[in-house]
Amino acid sequence: MIIERFVLTPFQQNTRVVACPDTRRAICIDPGEASKELEDFLTENDFELQAITLTHGHFDHIGGTADLRRRFPQAEIFLHKDDEDFYYGLPEQPLFLGIPQHQLKILGFEYELPPKLTRNWEDGEIYEVGNLRFKILHCPGHTRGHVVMAEETHKKVFVGDCLFEGSIGRTDLPGGNFEQLMDSINRKILTLGDDYTVYSGHGRETTIASEKKTNPFLTGAYQMTQGRFL
Ligand SMILES: [Fe+2]
Repeated sequence: MIIERFVLTPFQQNTRVVACPDTRRAICIDPGEASKELEDFLTENDFELQAITLTHGHFDHIGGTADLRRRFPQAEIFLHKDDEDFYYGLPEQPLFLGIPQHQLKILGFEYELPPKLTRNWEDGEIYEVGNLRFKILHCPGHTRGHVVMAEETHKKVFVGDCLFEGSIGRTDLPGGNFEQLMDSINRKILTLGDDYTVYSGHGRETTIASEKKTNPFLTGAYQMTQGRFL
């Protein structure tokens, strides 16, 4: 299993190319912005980009979709239906964060409307990339339509912005919900198994075992009550 990371956007987002070494079939998980380096990596390694697979619809995870699709027109594009409003609202998304309309271009947040999605993810489906098999798990909380992709043979899970080394995804943006996020993490991600390596949308890799032991949101060190941490 080949995993190549490209750290993109002012948010240091982890865009990844994941490929099957036997068949050379590949996916790009969350292209945050246009990247010639990433596109050249695919071409130079003779990978066939079969799909752009999106964990969720935030602009730092989808901003490079249009450009990548132009270079690889055969690539399908997948996203959960509950994040379609973010996806097709991409040009307006930076306004949620308080970036004024007239500064979008200057700050590098001017986006075109992305191409039409090929299909929506279904919770529990298996998505194959050559010999790799990803189980798609709907994990709402950071956004309504967030999914994680768990490769069961190699025990690797791509969690987007649900879980980070030592932290969890923010839940204060539209569609965010803290209780829902904790439920998704506890029921769908931690139960994959301690030996899973975790690939997050920002920051370093970690493991389920390490997060269970040290992540203050999971150990009980932080407790939330009435909307505040104790
Ligand atoms: Fe996000």
